[in-house]
Amino acid sequence: MNDMDPSQVAGKATAHRLAYFNGNQRTVLVTDIETAYPEGKLIVSRTDTLGFVTQCNQAFIEMSGYTESEILGQPHCILRHPDMPKAAYADLWATVGAGKKWHGYVKNVRKDGGYYWVHAVVVPNVRDGQIVGYTSVRRKPSRSKVNEAIALYVEMKAKESA
Ligand SMILES: Cc1cc2nc3c(=O)[nH]c(=O)nc-3n(C[C@H](O)[C@H](O)[C@H](O)COP(=O)(O)O)c2cc1C
Repeated sequence: MNDMDPSQVAGKATAHRLAYFNGNQRTVLVTDIETAYPEGKLIVSRTDTLGFVTQCNQAFIEMSGYTESEILGQPHCILRHPDMPKAAYADLWATVGAGKKWHGYVKNVRKDGGYYWVHAVVVPNVRDGQIVGYTSVRRKPSRSKVNEAIALYVEMKAKESA
C-alpha cells in the first residue's frame, strides 16, 4: 500500500502515519467530511485468510471511493481510519480466526480522505471444516450507536498510546 495521494484528497486533511499488523507503514490523509451511509444498501466484501480483498460489491466501491481494480488484491486495512483502535481489529481477527461471527461499528477512511461509519458483521467462510476466507456485510448504523462507538474508541485509543 502506498501513502495516500494528496491530489486525490478533497478538503483540508491531516496526515497520520499508521503502522500495520504486517509491519508496513503508510501515511493516511484524513478530512472531517462524512459520507452518509446509503439507505437500504449492504456494503459487502470478501477476503482471503490473510485479509486481502478478493471480492466487493458496487456499494463498497461507491463508499470507499476506489475502483474495483484498485481494491481487489489489496489488504483490507487500506480502509483503516486513524481514529479506530487497534484492539477493535485484534478482537475481529481473534473472533473470526476462531470460527465465530464478529460484529462491530467501524469508521473507514475513503480514498478522498473522508470517512463513513458502518455496522459490520464479519463471518468466516468455511469449506470442508477449513477457514478459506472471510466475508463482511455492512449495514447503516444508528447515530446513537455511532456516538457510543466514538466515545468508546477515544477511550480505547488513549489506553493504546499510554
Ligand atoms: C472480511 C474482513 C473485512 C474487513 N473490513 C475492514 C474494513 O472495512 N475496514 C478496516 O479498516 N478493516 C477491515 N478489516 C480488518 C483489516 O484486515 C485490518 O485488520 C484492519 O484494518 C487493521 O489493520 P492492521 O490489522 O494491519 O493493523 C476487515 C477484515 C476482514 C477479514
